[in-house]
Amino acid sequence: MSTRETVGVIGVGYVGLVTAACLAELGHHVVCRDIAPERVAMLQRGEVPIHEPGVPELLQRNAERLTFTLDMEDVFRDARIAIICVDTPPTASGDADLSRVEAVIDALPASAEGAVLVMKSTVPVGTGNRVRSELDARGRDDVGYVSNPEFLREGSAVADFRQPDRVVVGGDRPDDVERVARLYQDLNAPILTTDTASAEMIKLASNAFLATKISFVNEIANVCERVGADVEEVARGMGMDSRIGQSFLRPGIGYGGSCFPKDVTALKQLAGNTGYSFQLLASVIEVNELQKRRVIGKLQDRLGSLRECRICLLGLAFKPHTDDMREASSIVLASRLIAEGASVVAFDPVAAERARGVLPASVEIADSMLAAVTDADAVVIVTEWPEFRAVLSPEVHAAMRGTLIVDGRNLLDPNEAVAAGFTYVPIGRAERDPERELHQA
Ligand SMILES: NC(=O)c1ccc[n+]([C@@H]2O[C@H](COP(=O)([O-])OP(=O)(O)OC[C@H]3O[C@@H](n4cnc5c(N)ncnc54)[C@H](O)[C@@H]3O)[C@@H](O)[C@H]2O)c1
Repeated sequence: MSTRETVGVIGVGYVGLVTAACLAELGHHVVCRDIAPERVAMLQRGEVPIHEPGVPELLQRNAERLTFTLDMEDVFRDARIAIICVDTPPTASGDADLSRVEAVIDALPASAEGAVLVMKSTVPVGTGNRVRSELDARGRDDVGYVSNPEFLREGSAVADFRQPDRVVVGGDRPDDVERVARLYQDLNAPILTTDTASAEMIKLASNAFLATKISFVNEIANVCERVGADVEEVARGMGMDSRIGQSFLRPGIGYGGSCFPKDVTALKQLAGNTGYSFQLLASVIEVNELQKRRVIGKLQDRLGSLRECRICLLGLAFKPHTDDMREASSIVLASRLIAEGASVVAFDPVAAERARGVLPASVEIADSMLAAVTDADAVVIVTEWPEFRAVLSPEVHAAMRGTLIVDGRNLLDPNEAVAAGFTYVPIGRAERDPERELHQA
């Protein structure tokens, strides 16, 4: 990094903390401001409030370059670039809730003079222009505004920050755009500079496209089940076409997380607010909702009524290597199972704590995979933690009451599952039944 400077990060959740840790690693001093006192206190004590691989090490190694504060004045004492990473959750209408962004603008101190606000939070197209007008109306044309959407993925966020496919920097004042682009120059990544609205749209369109790919392959999987094709083979063959690519062609029980559901809905709403009906995205969302529920049908096909059944969910967070429970498929699944009269027991290697707050109270959360599967009539793999492959063990087989595994992420090898004595029900490929195969042999 040729110019190291003091950078402010406003909001230290998943995105903000990764950004702060990685900027500190690049040699910058980073002043982090959050409004959650317990979060700031934890970080000041050297504790890490989220599970994200690599972050604790980076925070520890760069501790002398990182400060955590509740006070906005502390940010602008030295920083002339302040990166906004506050949450932008959906409102009841599906539009993005920008109240946290507004709160940051409201809290800007006089000492922010000459600073550039960098919007890393995902916001609707038009937000930058609106914030610019608000700043101007308040006589703050001394404060710049640049859109710099974030594309990192939880679970691999540190690597994604360090080796991004691209960095997008959008703004209407070339000097400000240049200042922000310089922050990333040591990353050796392509930097796309553009106007504010286009930068905002690149983020929403990218997430909507990826979600479309997921819903597409999930529909292909559902048709594969009916026509006897294997979606894993189909996805592999499709992905070998360089125009399509392998990524995001993994069938499963639907996307979740804090980004895809909210960003796809926000883009659909944004279009709707202009009078344009984005029909494709309406279907992407509907397919995803139905996909989460398809597991119930698969369980009923094998077990009949789920009343009195004990169903074990392996994995609770929306993806492996994170404890983020926002919009996780497990929440819908657990609620539907309970509505069908089943009792639900679950295990997740890191998300148990957060899960307790969001899952129905009757869901039992076990301390280990073995404890979770004990006496279960069926196991559902909800999140593809690699360690769940160990479910195909004699211990698990002996501990379960039944032998059914519904693999919601196609994590397991079907042959190994059958060899271990399990009835194996994947997504978009043939179901396997050891007893039937024995008779056929
Ligand atoms: N999580 C992801 O994978 C991801 C990826 C790309 C983009 N994004 C976007 O980045 C933004 C942040 O996401 P996140 O997952 O880090 O959210 P988060 O909820 O984990 O973190 C947001 C943080 O902002 C703090 N905050 C709220 N208001 C504040 C204020 N006025 N001043 C200072 N701090 C404040 C909260 O206390 C919290 O710690 C969202 O817009 C999201 O859509 C997230």
